Amino acid sequence: DWTMASFREEKIKEIREQVGDKKVICGLSGGVDSSVVAVLIHEAIGDQLTCVYVDHGLMRAGESDQVVSLFREHYNINLVHKDASDLFLGELAGVTDPEKKRKIIGKLFIDVFEEEAQAVGGADFLAQGTLYPDVIESVSFIGGPSVTIKSHHNVGGLPERMNMQLVEPLRELFKDEVRALGRELGLHEDFVGRHPFPGPGLAIRIPGEITREKADILRKADAIYLEEIRKAGLYDDIWQAFAVLLPVKTVGVMGDSRTYDHVCAIRAVNSTDGMTANYYPYPHDFLGRVATRIINEVRGINRVVYDITSKPPGTIEWE
Ligand code: XMP
Repeated sequence: DWTMASFREEKIKEIREQVGDKKVICGLSGGVDSSVVAVLIHEAIGDQLTCVYVDHGLMRAGESDQVVSLFREHYNINLVHKDASDLFLGELAGVTDPEKKRKIIGKLFIDVFEEEAQAVGGADFLAQGTLYPDVIESVSFIGGPSVTIKSHHNVGGLPERMNMQLVEPLRELFKDEVRALGRELGLHEDFVGRHPFPGPGLAIRIPGEITREKADILRKADAIYLEEIRKAGLYDDIWQAFAVLLPVKTVGVMGDSRTYDHVCAIRAVNSTDGMTANYYPYPHDFLGRVATRIINEVRGINRVVYDITSKPPGTIEWE
């Protein structure tokens, strides 16, 4: 019968068969999916694996250093920390269409991975933490019309031409199963319990044009929001929470001056697989506290709204 322990053994066998004595590049984002993939593949093929953490300039505050040092602390896995923020932000400049953003990001990820594949003397395989819902939602609604909702950067966002073959050991799993596999592999709780974070990062939380300045504003608001969630003891009770920076400015008053700044939306949902989700019913005093702090502490934001859309009809991310 099916257990996580037998799944683990079976996947390790499959990875060894697929890869042989060749090298594998694994994109590591710090999220639970890619962390589980990295540890699983490392168990299968050891030093044939090199992980690449790509900082595209659209990570949350302090996240890159946190992920890389946590990973290095716990695992003896080859890990390259690549700062590609100029490349990504440069290519994204002026782009406002959500699918175009996703396509550009997917292509640049592959460019960076292919470069790193060269750097390790030629890797034939690219490992990714693609999950079952990513596959489905990039292709179609189940039983519905065949429509792309979003090109997940690790599925539909991939360019046609790619010199590497994919290794995707989690393709049949849902998020809660990945977490169970992570625990089976002894993955540190800091990775297992993390809220999901999308590969395109803050790019899909900045509707309209992305600039470094907007990303910096959003990082500050997001950090305050998550700090308040942790302080209130709500982190583990919420599936995913984040802030969004809207391309809308509104009038406000601060002291005796007029302000004209961005609106920030905050979002929190509960879900089991990301395919459907309910907005999280925060107490109003919590929402008020977060709004006050963001508006007082983040220059560039003068209004905060709470997103009470569930999925469907909304999606979790705004793009
Ligand atoms: P949506 O917005 O499609 O999100 O309702 C469902 C879940 O998937 C995450 N998400 C992504 N994860 N690459 C990822 O690795 C992506 O391109 C991507 N797009 C959305 C999202 O954060 C949520 O957890």
